[in-house]
Amino acid sequence: MSTSSHRPDRDSMSSRSEYFEALEDVALNPSLEPTLGDVIQRRFRRRDVLKGALGAVALGALAGTSLRAFADPLESGEKRSESRFGFTEISHGVDETHHVAPGYRADVLIRWGDPVTADAPEFDPYRQSAASQLKQFGYNNDFVGYVPLPFGSANADHGLLCINHEYTDEEVMFPGFGRHVDGFDTATRALTDIEMACNGGSIIEIRKTDGRWGVVANSRYARRITALDTEMALSGPAAGHPRLQTHADPSGRRVIGTFNNCAGGITPWGTYLMAEENFNNYFLGELSEPAEAENYARLGLPGHGFPWGKFHKRFDVGEEPNEPNRFGWVVEVDPFDPVSIPVKRTALGRFKHEGAEGILNGDGRYVIYCGDDQRFEFLYRFVSDAQVNKRDRGANRDLLDHGTLSVARLADDGTLAWLPLVHGQGPLTAENGFASQADVLIETRRAATLLGATPMDRPEDVEPNPVNGRVYVMLTNNSKRDTDQVDGANPRARNIWGHILELIPEKGDHAAATARWEVLLRGGNPKDPGTHALWNPATSEQGWFACPDNCAVDPQGRLWVSTDQGRAWKAASGTADGVWAVETEGAKRGTGRMFFRVPVGAEMCGPRFTPDGRTLFVAVQHPATDGTLDYPGFERRSTFEDPATRWPDFDPNMPPRPSVVVITKDDGGPIGG
Ligand code: FEO
Ligand code: CA
Ligand code: CA
Ligand code: CA
Repeated sequence: MSTSSHRPDRDSMSSRSEYFEALEDVALNPSLEPTLGDVIQRRFRRRDVLKGALGAVALGALAGTSLRAFADPLESGEKRSESRFGFTEISHGVDETHHVAPGYRADVLIRWGDPVTADAPEFDPYRQSAASQLKQFGYNNDFVGYVPLPFGSANADHGLLCINHEYTDEEVMFPGFGRHVDGFDTATRALTDIEMACNGGSIIEIRKTDGRWGVVANSRYARRITALDTEMALSGPAAGHPRLQTHADPSGRRVIGTFNNCAGGITPWGTYLMAEENFNNYFLGELSEPAEAENYARLGLPGHGFPWGKFHKRFDVGEEPNEPNRFGWVVEVDPFDPVSIPVKRTALGRFKHEGAEGILNGDGRYVIYCGDDQRFEFLYRFVSDAQVNKRDRGANRDLLDHGTLSVARLADDGTLAWLPLVHGQGPLTAENGFASQADVLIETRRAATLLGATPMDRPEDVEPNPVNGRVYVMLTNNSKRDTDQVDGANPRARNIWGHILELIPEKGDHAAATARWEVLLRGGNPKDPGTHALWNPATSEQGWFACPDNCAVDPQGRLWVSTDQGRAWKAASGTADGVWAVETEGAKRGTGRMFFRVPVGAEMCGPRFTPDGRTLFVAVQHPATDGTLDYPGFERRSTFEDPATRWPDFDPNMPPRPSVVVITKDDGGPIGG
């Protein structure tokens, strides 16, 4: 069965990045009608809204929302009237380079093509090869994780940096490529293999010497993980299942590679989690296995975004219908052992995993929060069965194979119920096509829909805050939500600006069956009543943003948010993406403050702090690609020969290069003051 009707028009997109965004914007969840219970709840909620302290603030058109945001500081915390951040913010804008707040420096740490392994050749954009790229830093850096060295220390001057490489933008990577849509038809095996080597992750050793960070050359930890050649294991309840078996792997337990690695996480036992997100785009062909039709349709498979299937038959679903079932998982990597085999942990479910940030629960179990980034998809949580062994990291080797995956239902009264995805419970039975837990995990989305999960506005990063016990959920946008689909937790129709939810677990227990939720802020310009944005009135001209995507919590428990507006940047905010500090407590709760800005066409990924809060790593992804038609003075599509910016080298012989940037304060103090 072809799912081509679910695919956006590739010819109308100016870049690979834009095509990806369009794919995430497609809604594949078939059951979006509100239930009677939803409608009743909404009426109750509307009464609460009108009673709320800020009920008069441009909310008349909203069906339901949490107005506790500014009226109700933390029960346990003192009321703060002053800002928790001490830096001078930068202004909105867009230009060819990056900007950071005054008093800070932002240095490029590593760029696409820079050497990772000891035997890597220097980068030459005119003589690229898969063999070189397998040893060099990959493309489109996204997640950044920091693991102190030695393991178990809080060393903030020496550690391992684990970086995901999400995908490739050929039009600015390869000389003479032209537009990516033309390249799809003229793709070669050589270029495809470079793309595959650009995906995955990098592990590098870094050290701060005399206040400056650098990559340690010839590190014994240095490693590339790629889509092309990295052997991986599948483990957990779905491993070995016939639906995961292929001609190359009759065991259903071995797979080559990972790709579209978006965000991720670092576990307390020092492993690196890589989330496989838009994996559907790498498959082409026509499905030859009717039994998988519903599974495929719900994931937009095959996505026909990349030509890999022309040269590697396993990406042609007509040849290998089970290969897509081996992607869409969370991959666990031990960065301390460069020859360890990464493991796809099927217990965490299969969907378009944005990230996998976790927290050590009070009872010693590990809890991971995951967003499924597509319009009207869901918010998930995994709770391990076992407690984390803090003395012996090796004892946690299979911790993520055993636990309970749940999906969130957010009621309009501000409560959240975690619904366990357990075979045999409720509708998750053979009658509905789930013969075992493996089936529940392979088709996580369909199982979650049957349980009555709440369709969200594209859940991206979900980050627990170990200082205050709360959890922040980035909901990036959803322009397709209609007025009659609005609910309390997704309170705006045609939401092109996104919003942030705060979850408050019951009694501080991240494994509890319920939690409360509140809207922390609604993105967009608060001065424009048409946005129905919700910010603290103290928010400045540049303190507001749109399309939250990744976030980080610093050691003081303060929230930092990075944005990805994609090609809609002009309509969403008019500024380039960046990092904003966000107040979550006290009288300033719901204000933002702009800290960092990316060059034109980029999105902001990372961010990640060292344990002392004195270094912030950010990842500048796909400079020069997104929305360059709206970049004043350029107003055309970027190519390798003619990009909107040549950041960060500004060398006429170098294309733009996705890079990790390291930010420190001039006086060596904590980031953010
Ligand atoms: Fe890869 Fe949802 O961002
Ligand atoms: Ca993202
Ligand atoms: Ca994060
Ligand atoms: Ca995004």
